[in-house]
Amino acid sequence: MKIQPEQAISILQEGGVVALPTETVYGLAADAFSPSAIGKIFELKRRPQDNPLIVHIHKREELSLLCSELPPSLDALIDAFWPGPLTFVLPALESVPLEARGGLNSVAVRMPAHPLMRQVLASTGPLVAPSANLSGKPSPTTAEHVEEDFGGAFPVVDGGPCSRGLESTVIVYFEKSWHIARPGALSGEELGGIVGKAVLPLPKTEKPLAPGSHYRHYSPEAKLSRLTAGSGVVLGFDERLYQEASKVYTLGSLQDPQGVAASLYALLRRLDSEGVAAAEVDLDFPQSGLWNTIRERLLRAIDVN
Ligand code: TXA
Ligand code: MG
Repeated sequence: MKIQPEQAISILQEGGVVALPTETVYGLAADAFSPSAIGKIFELKRRPQDNPLIVHIHKREELSLLCSELPPSLDALIDAFWPGPLTFVLPALESVPLEARGGLNSVAVRMPAHPLMRQVLASTGPLVAPSANLSGKPSPTTAEHVEEDFGGAFPVVDGGPCSRGLESTVIVYFEKSWHIARPGALSGEELGGIVGKAVLPLPKTEKPLAPGSHYRHYSPEAKLSRLTAGSGVVLGFDERLYQEASKVYTLGSLQDPQGVAASLYALLRRLDSEGVAAAEVDLDFPQSGLWNTIRERLLRAIDVN
């Protein structure tokens, strides 16, 4: 059910849960300082309790409510990318509910850019907001996707299609460097340009630092595989001909990674609504910038099948 931001504010202030638009994907929001409100999110999403949430804030000063220490170059990264699709994992103050941080001593924080989300945050204070999908489903990039997963009666503020279409990039500071815990809408190259050195993926051995990463994610019901024969349904690019394919769904143009990112999850959901049983995915695209995130999401959708 579509609701106005003012209604969302009252529901949140009474300890309820609503879906809100962000520039990355829609989020399922609750008061970050209310363990019972946070509990409702885990129940609704059927999310494992040890998978921590991102706390969303309206202004930089709210960081002092959440974390105890600020790593070097945090300010420069904030100046460059906030409000926007960048999440920092920071040492948590004990007053941040354990429910929000999956029992860890760190907390993930981001300042989103979407004007409706910002309007709500300005009144409510910090909100936890995981992506507003059932665990394991592709993240929602429209209000209609949220209704698909939680039903037409579920309250959602409609902010139109998300401009970025992929989740925020999650980074963590340790051993004197920033590392990418989850690739996202901001590329490693963009981050590296600000910190003055490469921002690399979290080493595989550091798994506990990225607790969400071992869960099933981004998967349609359709069985996806890498493009080989190309004789069935193909997910491919505008510029290419897939002559053997029985049907081609386009991911967009090879010239426009942001366009591909913005429509990726809607396309994965469309495969299911159109009853596609299996599809081959063309992964022959550049290994740089936003393409790296697009590849990671497609590989996850392939791997879980
Ligand atoms: O773009 C986004 O980030 C969206 C919108 C709604 O803001 N939110 C989102 O939340 O994607 P969620 O819950 O679907 O993903 C949060 C990710 C998970 O991979 C989780 O493991 C990681 O952030 N994370 C959260 N807290 C963490 C922590 N303390 N340490 C390491 N990773 C953490
Ligand atoms: Mg998610």
